[in-house]
Amino acid sequence: MSLQEVKDAWIYLDRNTGIWRGQVEAAQGVFQPIHWVALHRMQCVLRLSPHEGRIVDIGCSYGILTLNMAWKKPRAEVIGLDPDEQRLAVGRQLLTEHPLSNCKFQRGTVEEPGIPPRSCSGIICTETLDHIKDIKPRLKEAVDRLLDLLLPGGRLILSIPALEEMGKETAPLPPSPLSMKDFSFLRHIHEDRNCPRWWHLFYVDKV
Ligand SMILES: C[S@@+](CC[C@H](N)C(=O)[O-])C[C@H]1O[C@@H](n2cnc3c(N)ncnc32)[C@H](O)[C@@H]1O
Repeated sequence: MSLQEVKDAWIYLDRNTGIWRGQVEAAQGVFQPIHWVALHRMQCVLRLSPHEGRIVDIGCSYGILTLNMAWKKPRAEVIGLDPDEQRLAVGRQLLTEHPLSNCKFQRGTVEEPGIPPRSCSGIICTETLDHIKDIKPRLKEAVDRLLDLLLPGGRLILSIPALEEMGKETAPLPPSPLSMKDFSFLRHIHEDRNCPRWWHLFYVDKV
């Protein structure tokens, strides 16, 4: 697939998009102009996600996954949550450039999502739990809160960096407080083997 075809197929940050103006020049790699959320990981998350119902992307940052989810899943209602208003503003700017009636951004966190319990078909929380200060002793509580948002049969999709893999290619790396064994309290975890090995991407279905 050519770079032009990739650009036609995805909503992404480019040199015209708000705070990233100028910095895109420094990015490396064929998919970097799309965003630092690697295209391949985004495709994996999209494949795992439901097609209908309310899908909430918690810790959505600039909203790239949120927007592409809404675009590719027109029957779903997609909400991007983040505590950082500047990041949400970038998502909203992209939303004016790519109007999607099934997408919105609002302030929210894992701890206080502002989403009614048992109202969602999907919850996405990628590269976010590991960004919460002192998360480790509160991890089960945080994950239980995310599961509470799901309807029965809904899917929780999580990812954390696989720093042991990243470390082979890039150094130095910031320490990550979480590894897969920290999620051992979850039963029936499915790990997505298609995801680039820099990340652990996994999901649980609510019974
Ligand atoms: C590395 S970014 C993840 C972006 C995106 N989800 C991804 O997969 O690439 C982490 C995001 O988590 C947000 N964040 C930090 N603390 C949070 C919390 N307690 N609840 C929800 N999001 C949080 C940050 O503002 C930031 O946008």
